[in-house]
Amino acid sequence: MTVNKIILIVVIGSGALMSFYWAEENNQMPLKIPSNFPPPIYDLKQNPVTEKGFALGRKLFYDGQLSRNGIVSCGFCHQQPSAFTQHGHDVSHGVDDRLGKRNSLAISNVIWQKTFFWDGGVNHLDFVPLNALENPVEMDETLENVLKKLNQSPAYKSEFKEAFQTEVITSTHFLSALSQFMASLITANSRYDRYVRQEGEKLTSEELTGLSLFKKNCNSCHATDLFTDGSYRNNGVTTDYRFDKGRQEITLQLNDRGKFKVPTLRNIEYTDPYMHDGSIATLEEVLDHYTDGVKDSPTLDPVLKSNGKLGITLTDADKKNIIAFLKTLTDNEFMAEKRFSEY
Ligand code: HEC
Ligand code: HEC
Repeated sequence: MTVNKIILIVVIGSGALMSFYWAEENNQMPLKIPSNFPPPIYDLKQNPVTEKGFALGRKLFYDGQLSRNGIVSCGFCHQQPSAFTQHGHDVSHGVDDRLGKRNSLAISNVIWQKTFFWDGGVNHLDFVPLNALENPVEMDETLENVLKKLNQSPAYKSEFKEAFQTEVITSTHFLSALSQFMASLITANSRYDRYVRQEGEKLTSEELTGLSLFKKNCNSCHATDLFTDGSYRNNGVTTDYRFDKGRQEITLQLNDRGKFKVPTLRNIEYTDPYMHDGSIATLEEVLDHYTDGVKDSPTLDPVLKSNGKLGITLTDADKKNIIAFLKTLTDNEFMAEKRFSEY
């Protein structure tokens, strides 16, 4: 055996030993996949969640340094007590209080999503942050500059080293850490979940009536226990597409005009205002929209103009029951979970 070969074996051997110790110290945190959910889409093997990677992702998520003015963090627009949406704003407010054109989306159960944003403009979780970072009405920064700031911080350098065994913080490590935090934001412990998983939870007769009305009228789009089929549809909120054409902005297809992602309804009690433009303030008004407010246009979903009538037919009592059911989708544990909060 040549000296070179011996050196090679020693080097590989000690590398393996080092990563063994690293893996020992940096405990993996396998995510618990709820039994009432389909298999995740995000490849967790390619970016396994570890204790240190998760903690680092959380620190980055709440760090204003990711923005030009040092104030606007991801958490600024995605607030935990509002199921990671921006409370009280129809459209999001970013750097220098600049207005975006869309309502902040909830960050939850993201490992089950194929595409992101109201128009599906991003198709991988790891790339979502780039959009926010570089958007002039959100964080108005550049990835290059953020990486420069992080590489100048002794604290971040040592935390990245512990989490990813790296001396230099690259975009891959940065994005992986953020994804590990976001991947962990799983909401699946509402009263509804405990009811369907038969964990001893009971729903009231009002809530059960609401559930069956929901299955009949809503669940063709708000499907599965994720409460979305992941598709893009026009539910007749507006016919004014001057500022926002929805899915058409990505596909450039005229027949995608005014179609938006079917959003999840989990924690819906806390994510007001509603719709891509934040134009509907309350759940009562959402139900009034579906019965009386649906606006017709060539791309309106056929489900909402069947039998020559616009919208869905519901009585006042039906609406009350559906709202009672929607409130069973609130997961208080998720919104109070300390591991997900800034401190
Ligand atoms: C200025 C407010 C603002 C900031 C800051 C912000 N976001 Fe967002 N976020 C939004 C809005 C608004 C949307 C919906 C945008 C759209 O559909 O065009 C969104 C969408 C998302 C989504 C997609 C959710 C889905 O279901 O499709 C994720 C994930 C996300 N943001 C993560 C982040 C991360 C990570 C950061 C920090 C790097 C961040 N956001 C910073 C406002 C913000
Ligand atoms: C044809 C598909 C479809 C049907 C049927 C449907 N929805 Fe929706 N729903 C959507 C789409 C698409 C959006 C987002 C539209 C937008 O933002 O412009 C939405 C938005 C919502 C929102 C606001 C969510 C948020 O985060 O802003 C609520 C609440 C809601 N729907 C409840 C219901 C209820 C309750 C029913 C049954 C009475 C129902 N939907 C039936 C497609 C549908």
